[in-house]
Amino acid sequence: MASGVSLTLLSAVFLPNLMPAAFAQSAATDAVVTSAPAMSPEEIEQLRAAADEIFDAIPSAVPKVKDNAVTREKTELGQMLWFDTRLSASGILNCNSCHNLAGGGTDNLETSIGHGWQKGPRNSPTVFNSIFNVAQFWDGRADDLRSQAKGPIQAAVEMAATPDHVVNVLNSIPTYQEHFRTAFPGEADPVTFDNVAKAIEAFEATLITPGARFDQFLEGNLAVLDDKEKHGLKLFMDTGCSACHSGVNLGGQEYYPFGVVERPGSDILPLEDKGRFAVTKTASDEYVFRAVPLRNVALTAPYFHSGKVWSLEQAVAVMGVAQLGQELTPDETSAIAAFLGTLTGEPPRVELPILPPSTSTTPRPEPLVKNSLSKGDAVETQSGVR
Ligand code: HEC
Ligand code: HEC
Repeated sequence: MASGVSLTLLSAVFLPNLMPAAFAQSAATDAVVTSAPAMSPEEIEQLRAAADEIFDAIPSAVPKVKDNAVTREKTELGQMLWFDTRLSASGILNCNSCHNLAGGGTDNLETSIGHGWQKGPRNSPTVFNSIFNVAQFWDGRADDLRSQAKGPIQAAVEMAATPDHVVNVLNSIPTYQEHFRTAFPGEADPVTFDNVAKAIEAFEATLITPGARFDQFLEGNLAVLDDKEKHGLKLFMDTGCSACHSGVNLGGQEYYPFGVVERPGSDILPLEDKGRFAVTKTASDEYVFRAVPLRNVALTAPYFHSGKVWSLEQAVAVMGVAQLGQELTPDETSAIAAFLGTLTGEPPRVELPILPPSTSTTPRPEPLVKNSLSKGDAVETQSGVR
C-alpha cells in the first residue's frame, strides 16, 4: 500500500504554486459538461499502470483483523449489537443511526445528532472500508475499530451510555449471553465491554465495498471508465491529490493540515475544532486532520469534518486551493468529481438481525425529559435508572 509523502516534501513541491488569495466559494460547477479528449490505448494503459503504483483495489474477501479472528459467530453478534438501540442510554440510538448501512454508511447530516437531540461537533464518516484506515476518526484518536467502538457508546453527544449499562443490558438477556459464549469460546465471563467492541469490530470488517468501477479499471478493464473519468483520474494524480489520498482507501493513512497552502475560511474550517492538536497537544498539529478516505465519497455528502460543503465539485475546488494552491478550472473540478464517482463500490448485503427481547431485569431506557416532580431524579445522568 502506498503511503502519503511527508509533509515537508509535499510543501517543498507545492508551496511555490502559492496562489494569491481570492477563491470564490460559490464556484458550484454541477452544470458544467466536460468533453475530455479521448486518450490513445497506450496512454490509457500508462494511466492504469501509474494508478496501480499508487492505489489498491478493495479485496473481495473480508480482511484479517489484528488479534481478533473474524468468525461467523462474532460477526453475527456484532451485527446484532450494531442495530441494538438498548446499548444507548435513551434506547433510541444505535450505530446505524449515524452510519446508515442502507445508504453510504453515514447520516448525510452536516454534523451528527446524538443523545437528547444534541448536535455533535463533527460530520459522521462512512463506516464502509474503515477497516483499511490506519487510525479512526477525523483526528485519528482511536488506533483501531475496537477502541473506536467504545467511543460512541459512551460519548455524551452520541449514545451516552456506560460500559456497566451495556454489560447489564446484555447480561439480562439470556440469548445474548449464549451468543457471547459461542462467539468467545472458552472465556469464563464473555459478556464484557471489550468483547462488545471486538464483536462490533469483526462485523465492521465485513463492511467493505469491492467492485467499484475504478477497481475494475485497476484490474485491467480499461473500457469501464469513460473519457471524462479517465481525465479526472489523470488530473487527480498529476495535480497532486494522490500525494495524500492514496492506497486502498485513497486516504485514511496520514495527517495533514487542512490548508497546507491556504487555510479555508471559518465557514468551512470552524476555528474551535483544532483537529489533531487535541490528540497530540503539539502546536504543529493545529488544524491537522486525517486525509479523508475517498471510497464511496459520492454517497457521503456533506463534506469535510465540518460538513459545510454539499457539492463534491466544490469540495474538490476547496482542496485544490487549500492543499495545492491551485485554482482548478470548472472543467477540471468536474472531471475529478466524475472520477471520484467511480469509487462507489458494491455495498455488503446486510440483513436486519432478529434481536432477543428484553427481560424483567433489563435496565429501562433513561427518560429524555425528566419529570421535575420526582425528587432526586433531575441530577441522575447514569443510565439504567427506572
Ligand atoms: C450520534 C451519532 C453517532 C453514533 C450513534 C455513532 N457514531 Fe460513529 N461516528 C460519528 C461521528 C460524528 C464520527 C466522527 C467523530 C470524530 O472524528 O471525532 C464517528 C466516527 C466513527 C468511526 C470512524 C470512521 C473513520 O473513518 O474514522 C467508526 C468506525 C464509527 N464511528 C463506528 C461507530 C459504531 C460502531 C457505533 C455504534 C457503537 C457508532 N459509530 C455510533 C457519529 C456516530
Ligand atoms: C496535503 C494533503 C492533501 C492533498 C494534496 C489533498 N487532500 Fe483532500 N483532504 C485532505 C485532508 C487533510 C482532508 C480532510 C479535511 C477536513 O478536515 O475536513 C481532505 C478532504 C478531502 C475531501 C472531503 C471528503 C469528505 O468525505 O469529507 C475530498 C473530496 C478531497 N479531500 C479531495 C481531494 C482532491 C480532489 C484533491 C486534489 C485536488 C485533494 N483532496 C488534495 C488532504 C489532502
